[in-house]
Amino acid sequence: MSNRSKNICKIFVHIISFCFWAHAAATDILNQGDMLRSSDSRVSRNGVFTLRFYNLSMNNWYLSIWYKYDPTKPCWLANRDRPIKNNSGVLLIDEQGNLMMTYTGGVPIKLYSGQSAANINVTAVLQDDGNFVLKKSADDSTGGVTEQILWQSFDSPTDCFLPGMKLGINLKTSQNWSLTSWLTSSVPTRGAFTLEWVPSEHQMILRRRGVKFWSSGVLNKDAFGNLTVSSDIYDFIYSEHSNNHEQYLTYNLVALPSIEEWDNVSSLTLGHDGRITRWSSRRVGFTKVDCDGLRTDSGCERWERPECRSHGEKMERREIYYDNSVVHFEDKNESRSFSDCVDICWNDCTCFGVSNIGNNSVNPGCIFWYGPLKETATGEKGTTCYIIISAPPPKFRGVIMILVIAVAAAIVIGTVLIIFFYFFMRWRRARVEEKFLFELMNEAKELEIEGKKGFKLKVYSVASIMDATNCFSDENKLGEGGYGPVYKGLFDGQEIAIKRLSRSSRQGLVEFKNELIIVAKLQHTNLVQLLGFCIQGEEKMIVYEYMPNKSLDSYIFDQSKRRLFHWNKYFNIIEEIAQGLLYLHKYSRLRIIHRDLKASNILLDKNLSPKISDFGMAKTFTTTQFEANTNRIVGTRGYMPPEYTGRGIFSTKVDVFSFGVLVLEIVSGRRSNSNFNFVRPLNLIGYAWMLWKEDAALELIHPTLRDSCSEDQVLRCINVALLCAEDNPLDRPSMADVISMLTSEGVKLPMPKQPAFCIERRVAEVNSNEDMVAENHSINNVTISVIDGR
Ligand SMILES: *[C@@H]1O[C@H](CO)[C@@H](O)[C@H](O)[C@H]1NC(C)=O
Ligand SMILES: *[C@@H]1O[C@H](CO)[C@@H](O)[C@H](O)[C@H]1NC(C)=O
Ligand SMILES: *[C@@H]1O[C@H](CO)[C@@H](O)[C@H](O)[C@H]1NC(C)=O
Ligand SMILES: *[C@@H]1O[C@H](CO)[C@@H](O)[C@H](O)[C@H]1NC(C)=O
Ligand SMILES: *[C@@H]1O[C@H](CO)[C@@H](O)[C@H](O)[C@H]1NC(C)=O
Ligand SMILES: *[C@@H]1O[C@H](CO)[C@@H](O)[C@H](O)[C@H]1NC(C)=O
Ligand SMILES: *[C@@H]1O[C@H](CO)[C@@H](O)[C@H](O)[C@H]1NC(C)=O
Ligand SMILES: *[C@@H]1O[C@H](CO)[C@@H](O)[C@H](O)[C@H]1NC(C)=O
Repeated sequence: MSNRSKNICKIFVHIISFCFWAHAAATDILNQGDMLRSSDSRVSRNGVFTLRFYNLSMNNWYLSIWYKYDPTKPCWLANRDRPIKNNSGVLLIDEQGNLMMTYTGGVPIKLYSGQSAANINVTAVLQDDGNFVLKKSADDSTGGVTEQILWQSFDSPTDCFLPGMKLGINLKTSQNWSLTSWLTSSVPTRGAFTLEWVPSEHQMILRRRGVKFWSSGVLNKDAFGNLTVSSDIYDFIYSEHSNNHEQYLTYNLVALPSIEEWDNVSSLTLGHDGRITRWSSRRVGFTKVDCDGLRTDSGCERWERPECRSHGEKMERREIYYDNSVVHFEDKNESRSFSDCVDICWNDCTCFGVSNIGNNSVNPGCIFWYGPLKETATGEKGTTCYIIISAPPPKFRGVIMILVIAVAAAIVIGTVLIIFFYFFMRWRRARVEEKFLFELMNEAKELEIEGKKGFKLKVYSVASIMDATNCFSDENKLGEGGYGPVYKGLFDGQEIAIKRLSRSSRQGLVEFKNELIIVAKLQHTNLVQLLGFCIQGEEKMIVYEYMPNKSLDSYIFDQSKRRLFHWNKYFNIIEEIAQGLLYLHKYSRLRIIHRDLKASNILLDKNLSPKISDFGMAKTFTTTQFEANTNRIVGTRGYMPPEYTGRGIFSTKVDVFSFGVLVLEIVSGRRSNSNFNFVRPLNLIGYAWMLWKEDAALELIHPTLRDSCSEDQVLRCINVALLCAEDNPLDRPSMADVISMLTSEGVKLPMPKQPAFCIERRVAEVNSNEDMVAENHSINNVTISVIDGR
């Protein structure tokens, strides 16, 4: 045969086959006596459905109906459990009206068996809705034709739910309309999942091997809560029907108004993995979330959990890499779907994962993986595996774990730090106190030794002091000192004053030590006399001579008591205080700045002779030092000079300033911080200065002194006081100058300049002086702890 004739022959064959196809396409009917062979097909009139034999895999032939828009697999199969093993299958309606498939070498598969011996006028039609209907037509009495449906494919659904199809129960025939998934994506044998309509619950239930897996939610206004199959071209209108014969669910599609041309068919297909897919001329869509055994939202059921599985465990798809030591077993059981394998693995406590044989659920059977899972990050062997993991998912869990660990670590570290810090502080405080006490004891010992050398310091026992103060009775309490109460006592017939350090006062310990060490080494008639001390265990006390006449402030600020003394007495007191200060500043073995000179710290003995007391804040100076800096400003407001409160600079001139203020107080009988409204509000210094400038200084003097005073002395005192209160410490006289100025009658005194704090603050200029220690300490962190009215 020539090439040319070969080609002509080919074309001829093509034409023949085209004609045959065209003929077949036009035909939706199978008549009695017709034969549908494996090469034939029937197509519904609208062209949407096709009926034909199909070779699915491995020469397994099935009579199937295909939905045009689901190319993956047929929508209905006549013989899903009994494939015909070669293409010899034929569909026909025999003379008795039986619908059957015949094939060589096997018993015919009957789809419908006629009841009567002879059924004529029986035909089968593939309808537009995808229903393949076997019916019998007969003339009725009225001359019309009645059709009786003998069998239809909608009565034996596989996994497709089409519009007009029923899901439910026929009560009369016990017909059960439900969907059953394929075994795998390519094996149509009955698989693990079934979808049925439960009329009593008004919802669809999806079961996996009979166990509830998912539920649609109750049908409510033709929609299901857990099944959203929205489409952009039509609405799904579900309807529930219930009568004596049948209870079922069906649905129709209603085109959205905007759509002009549309295909009124859609299929809801139950996949082999339990997912429901909507196929239509437009989009493909999954309508159900994957249930993982753990979640219970969206209608999912929690899987029964064997004891060995912990609470959060579930199956999750993952890529794993493993080394050869991981045990796995290939189970080629042809009747197992992948979901069966998952179930087996879930219930087998040695199994940690399961994977497909070959590609993506094409083949039945699976591979089981037995633990423990030894993953290698960069292993050569990798596979997609459903493994059992602990929920929440790894990434999320990782974040949570990190957070939890971080928080826990922070708490632990924080707690440890706090505890450590607490104990460290305790230890440090204990060490400081220990050291301090040690020093104190040493000092005390020294003082004791010196006392034996004729220094006349006495060491008291607690018992003797208890005895002397009547056990610190309230009646014996004289008042409250800087760091604790002061008691009066009677010891060996001598009256004593006892300053007791209160246990709670920590700063007090410093002051106590300061006072003890300083006062012990001082001896002057105008300083309060230390008699001894008591340091025994917790108790720390200083014993002074008793001053029966209390402190100066109780006289000068008291209208009635003030009258007890004449001016001469006050002048004496001023002089003697100056002597006491001079001793402190110049002649004592130490050079001492009192820093808290004020009326209440001047005690009067039985001869009304003043004695400076309260050395808790006193500072010793080296003799070459003129001034120093401090970060801790202590003292009493109104008695402190500007350079000290402002910049922490202190020198003997601090005491000089305080002395000036004290003199003004004695003269005027007014407190330093009193307010005077003289043109503008003024304090005592300012008031004195204003009067001085106006030549009216004598007006400052308190009325009770007017008669007894010597004007010259008073003016001299005010003059000296104003000199002492000058802004610049260098302008203030020393105590030696003060004494000579107070006593040298007739000598003209320097005129005072405007004092500090009187009208406006002037910046004190500290000239560089050879006497000065120009220390540039930073005093940015000055802490002003001013103690009022001590
Ligand atoms: C049927 O399918 C199998 C595999 O899918 C193939 O090997 C076989 O050749 C097919 N048979 C026919 C007649 O098409
Ligand atoms: C089909 O298979 C049967 C045996 O299973 C065999 O007898 C028959 O000849 C085969 N028919 C065709 C057309 O291959
Ligand atoms: C689809 O529409 C055609 C005509 O509009 C109608 O005859 C047919 O019954 C409809 N099919 C379904 C499944 O609703
Ligand atoms: C078969 O159908 C045809 C047409 O519908 C009718 O004329 C004929 O009477 C029918 N035969 C029988 C036995 O019912
Ligand atoms: C319907 O069939 C399904 C699947 O075979 C079955 O689980 C269900 O119990 C049946 N329902 C009734 C009412 O027979
Ligand atoms: C989903 O199904 C469950 C179980 O039937 C039901 O409790 C739940 O209300 C449903 N969800 C919605 C949104 O309807
Ligand atoms: C195969 O699996 C089915 C269903 O799980 C089971 O009943 C059957 O015993 C299994 N066959 C073998 C050989 O394991
Ligand atoms: C799986 O599919 C890929 C392509 O999709 C193919 O290359 C590979 O050989 C297949 N593996 C098996 C085991 O069938």
